[in-house]
Amino acid sequence: MSTDNAGFEASYGPWAVIAGGAQGIGEAYTRYIAARGVNVMVLDISADALAAISASVREEFGVQCLPVEVDLAGDDMLEVIRAAVGKREVGLLVYNAGLADVGPFYKADSGLDFELKKIAVNVTGPLKLIYHFGKAMLARRRGGIVLMSSGAGLTGSPYYAHYSATKAYDIALGEALWGEFAPYNVDVLAVAAGMTLSTAAAGFEHIEDRSQFQTTTELVDEAMAALGQQPLLIAGKNHRANADNMLQIPKKDLIRYMAEHAINNFLGGEAPPQVIDGD
Ligand SMILES: NC(=O)c1ccc[n+]([C@@H]2O[C@H](COP(=O)([O-])OP(=O)(O)OC[C@H]3O[C@@H](n4cnc5c(N)ncnc54)[C@H](OP(=O)(O)O)[C@@H]3O)[C@@H](O)[C@H]2O)c1
Repeated sequence: MSTDNAGFEASYGPWAVIAGGAQGIGEAYTRYIAARGVNVMVLDISADALAAISASVREEFGVQCLPVEVDLAGDDMLEVIRAAVGKREVGLLVYNAGLADVGPFYKADSGLDFELKKIAVNVTGPLKLIYHFGKAMLARRRGGIVLMSSGAGLTGSPYYAHYSATKAYDIALGEALWGEFAPYNVDVLAVAAGMTLSTAAAGFEHIEDRSQFQTTTELVDEAMAALGQQPLLIAGKNHRANADNMLQIPKKDLIRYMAEHAINNFLGGEAPPQVIDGD
């Protein structure tokens, strides 16, 4: 990736689309890109957050910011986004939004509909937007695509089972398209984030070892430096070291390790039972 603003704009301008770009990690992407002189189109579900980021980005960075209120899980999301984009040339797509939860596969407070919504946001959403925006990038022979995934996508992760499966999809799609799009000068990067202090990550307060976390800015700085350099970034020094170790151990032990990570950090120290009808 070019480090100077002119180079960044030439590679990825004049417009970037950031899906789930109004808060948390997404906001950090929006601000990083706007700071490099590229206009930002921010897709998000939260009207208030969109209004806030649009005002601050325009004032701070002097670029155009187009807020688009859209539910990325909606069947009509692509039509809404295409209408909002109009004839603007999109040189960078960041698909950041993700739907996550932790608990047993069969939960008390959500059912199959929620799991299908996870597919809509984490799988169908990136597929639709890459399919749409990627084609024009290939035709122009320039552009970039960043796909947010998770450490949970690197292996099957108990108590994040379906989230982990959707995030494995994001890694596989990102890595494969890195290979296919490179001859067209379009950079693709999948980012496996570790625990990151985003707005959606409220609930991390009880974890004492802060060295496990990245800030949103640290994560985005790393990701944007990796775009154009590699197909997959495992973000964060500690997370990367853990992931290296994880790949050395037998699969059964690795899956148990992932289960313990969820149980100890987010499930109060005890494996939750499956909530089965009739129990
Ligand atoms: N935070 C972590 O520790 C962590 C770890 C590993 C991977 N990740 C991945 O990193 C990405 C961003 O993570 P995050 O959880 O920290 O979120 P975030 O960046 O704080 O938030 C993303 C933004 O997307 C919006 N959004 C969510 N669902 C949407 C939908 N259906 N339509 C439109 N906008 C929607 C959110 O709005 P609302 O808040 O109003 O819903 C929020 O403004 C996700 O793909 C996640 O899987 C995060």
